[in-house]
Amino acid sequence: MNNFTFYSPTYFVFGKGTENEAGQYVSRFGGSKVLIHYGGGSVERSGLLDRVKESLKKQNIDFVQLGGVVPNPRSGLVYEGIELCRKENVDFILAVGGGSVIDSAKAIAAGVKYDGDFWDFYEGKPVMEALPVATVLTIAAAGSEGSGDSVITKEEGMLKRGAGGEALRPVFSILNPELTQTLPPYQTASGATDIMAHVFERYFTNTKEVEITDRLCEAVLLTMIKEVPRVIEDPNNYEARANIMWAGMVAHNNIVGVGREQDWSSHGIEHELSALYDVAHGAGLAVIFPAWMTYVMKHDINRFAQIAVRVWGCEMNFANPEETAKEGIERLKKFLTSIGMPISFAELGAKEEDIPLMVEKLGLGERGTMGSFVPLTAKDVEAIYRLAL
Ligand code: NZQ
Ligand code: ZN
Repeated sequence: MNNFTFYSPTYFVFGKGTENEAGQYVSRFGGSKVLIHYGGGSVERSGLLDRVKESLKKQNIDFVQLGGVVPNPRSGLVYEGIELCRKENVDFILAVGGGSVIDSAKAIAAGVKYDGDFWDFYEGKPVMEALPVATVLTIAAAGSEGSGDSVITKEEGMLKRGAGGEALRPVFSILNPELTQTLPPYQTASGATDIMAHVFERYFTNTKEVEITDRLCEAVLLTMIKEVPRVIEDPNNYEARANIMWAGMVAHNNIVGVGREQDWSSHGIEHELSALYDVAHGAGLAVIFPAWMTYVMKHDINRFAQIAVRVWGCEMNFANPEETAKEGIERLKKFLTSIGMPISFAELGAKEEDIPLMVEKLGLGERGTMGSFVPLTAKDVEAIYRLAL
């Protein structure tokens, strides 16, 4: 196991009706003038926004609001949010929504405290300071409710990039699984795929002797394989929703990834798909991950056979572990299809002729690489896109 530090300061409030406590927690964490940030309307339709506002009013907390965050959130609204926060002397941001809303809130929080262009953080500058951000989560997916990451798309050139820093970890996150019951099945499944992908990015590692995190990763995946079909069958299944919601947090606050090298090339490869076609990030991952796995499998057949046996229930073929590894990838594909996810460019609506553009936008040039399990060159990435056709 590698040396590591792990700091996960978010205070989690989990369970039914907990959104009504938002005001109390904002007050406890020192917010006096709040920006409520939200998306395209689901929180208005469900009445959640009104309940959150009511709980702030009860604590006499002043607030302004800014809606309109779109999936694959854009830089334009971030600039607007920064300006609004400065004008209104906002000292606390409450994101009410999914990963896109939370990421937009984090970008605003970092931008308010920074003299330069907030986009600098999305070109690699670490975020050292930000306004406190808290969340009321409405979809189990990105894990942004516990992570120190934010992903934003810059309209100019449709560049989708990530920023990171401990200052971006939410101070508190309210997770009420009931709020996810209004999700359309496709969003539920996309979110679930993202959760599983966050585990895969960590599971496929070159670090040896990482039994504890291997086993934690497997536990999250086994939970998803059991619970996702239950919510697709019955969207109101609270217990299954609850397990998925906590799995989404565990998958990405890095507790399952400490002490090991992580890959993250599939996320980079996917971000070009969601930037270009504005598809759900999780659906893009459903297309990319099986292709990536097929492409890199030979690098460590035993690790792929291990996940096939421990997670997908395959029988180990000791004479030919590659067969076991392949069977594991086949079962992943079947699972994704069974929950309504696309597993090819064609099903996603992506086009073969755009592959060179997506490869170019990754900016790897002649010699650059991405990922660490198998460092991928531009040629490798192109081959993975083609495997996904
Ligand atoms: O905008 P509204 O009307 O709220 O609708 C949203 C949106 O259309 C809807 N929705 C959310 N909760 C709902 C609901 N509809 C009905 N009932 C509810 N309870 O679902 C749609 C998708 O929402 P979005 O926030 O985009 O989903 P998600 O949480 O999957 O976030 C995706 C974004 O997160 C980024 C992705 O790249 C993508 O931009 N990621 C962020 C990460 C992080 N910050 O750590 C890591 C991830 O790997 C990921 O890259
Ligand atoms: Zn993701």
